[in-house]
Amino acid sequence: MTSRETPFSAPVGAAQYGGTRAVSRCDSLGVAPYSEEEGALFRPYLSKAYRETVRCVSAWMEEAGMTTRQDAAGNLVGRYEGARPDAPALLIGSHLDSVRNAGRYDGPLGVMLGIEVVAYLSAHKKRLPFAVEVIGFGDEEGSRFPVSMLTSRAVADVLKAAPDTMKDAAGISLRDALGAEGFLLEDFSKAARNKKDVIAYFEAHIEQGPVLESENHAVGAVTAIAAQYRFLINIKGFAGHAGTMPMHLRQDALAAAAEAMVAIESIALQGAGDLVATVGRLDVAPGVPNVVPGGVAFTLDIRSGTESIRDKAAETIRTALAAIAEKRHVELSMELQQDLPATPCNSALTQALSDAIQKITGLSARKLVSGAGHDAMVMAALAPVCMLFIRCEKGISHNPAEAVTAEDVEIAFQVMVTFIESYAETYSARQEKIA
Ligand code: GLV
Ligand code: MN
Ligand code: MN
Repeated sequence: MTSRETPFSAPVGAAQYGGTRAVSRCDSLGVAPYSEEEGALFRPYLSKAYRETVRCVSAWMEEAGMTTRQDAAGNLVGRYEGARPDAPALLIGSHLDSVRNAGRYDGPLGVMLGIEVVAYLSAHKKRLPFAVEVIGFGDEEGSRFPVSMLTSRAVADVLKAAPDTMKDAAGISLRDALGAEGFLLEDFSKAARNKKDVIAYFEAHIEQGPVLESENHAVGAVTAIAAQYRFLINIKGFAGHAGTMPMHLRQDALAAAAEAMVAIESIALQGAGDLVATVGRLDVAPGVPNVVPGGVAFTLDIRSGTESIRDKAAETIRTALAAIAEKRHVELSMELQQDLPATPCNSALTQALSDAIQKITGLSARKLVSGAGHDAMVMAALAPVCMLFIRCEKGISHNPAEAVTAEDVEIAFQVMVTFIESYAETYSARQEKIA
């Protein structure tokens, strides 16, 4: 080894890999044709931008030595065989879809890092006692249809059937959106993986919060992912003429929604430590200047690392909203659309990941709970999961200002290689014991 080489250097003549390339690939996916919008990133599930992204990322996967396919839910899956064919797989994944006006790293960075790890294994001609599969999930954000994590739920086999009635904001059903991309709603659940074929799921992701930056850690190990509820709240008032309807006779659905939102904010502010509640979308009918609003629908997202705190907040909000509706003579319904329980990461894998962090950074691993949702919380139903967080600037995410440094992502890459190689040793030792 020369003084410039590290254990992670590519052999002479081999293709390159590493954190810098992972970042620049995310950057190149941040613009058209990989975005539906000019000048901003928006990559919803089953869009043309998603199709282009799958095409581009599958080429990168193949170049890294993987075979590729799209599963029945449209997820992109690359496979790097282990030392023996048909060995069970370690899955490394995250999502390729995005929110509207997104940053470039939320999701794709975890997929790109998986590809870099495989490129490293390929360049060093290493085959592990298990296969490595890299998955780019199609729907994590729920930015097109009303619920999130549809496609990891299909893989983990926790979606009993793909919802037939679900429509996007343009009125296109999931069935038609799948059909337009060559998939069948009836086949959606065929994306399910068999537990015996999957040994673990690993996800690398930007932290999307400020903890690592404020404590000067490049990376951290996730111990658990917060519980989430997603509700749809409908308020039915009475539409009327804005010039003639006296104030005291109105049943204004939007004024009721405004009071409801202030109540939600105040309940969340008074709640225990990590409780958060967000109204992120509001649709007003008819939504014109000279009509008293007759109907409003809005979303409510409630999260906490502790399920009982989230549940208690949901009940308090339900009671407060019912009182507001009664006082204002409007009808209000609160429909639960999604319930994701708090998800602990596997403690043995998280310890092994922490050891790898210590080895690469020289610091004891910062362990933290994720307030953001991740495919890992669904994949936990299929296999033990663990997650690596990467510092992001000022904790900004779901925003075009999202930023990471190539140095931090290189550290994440080296941690992943170290973790996977040590996991391979543990796995082999365990297999020998069983034999
Ligand atoms: C996804 O980013 C979520 O946490 O909702
Ligand atoms: Mn996100
Ligand atoms: Mn994400």
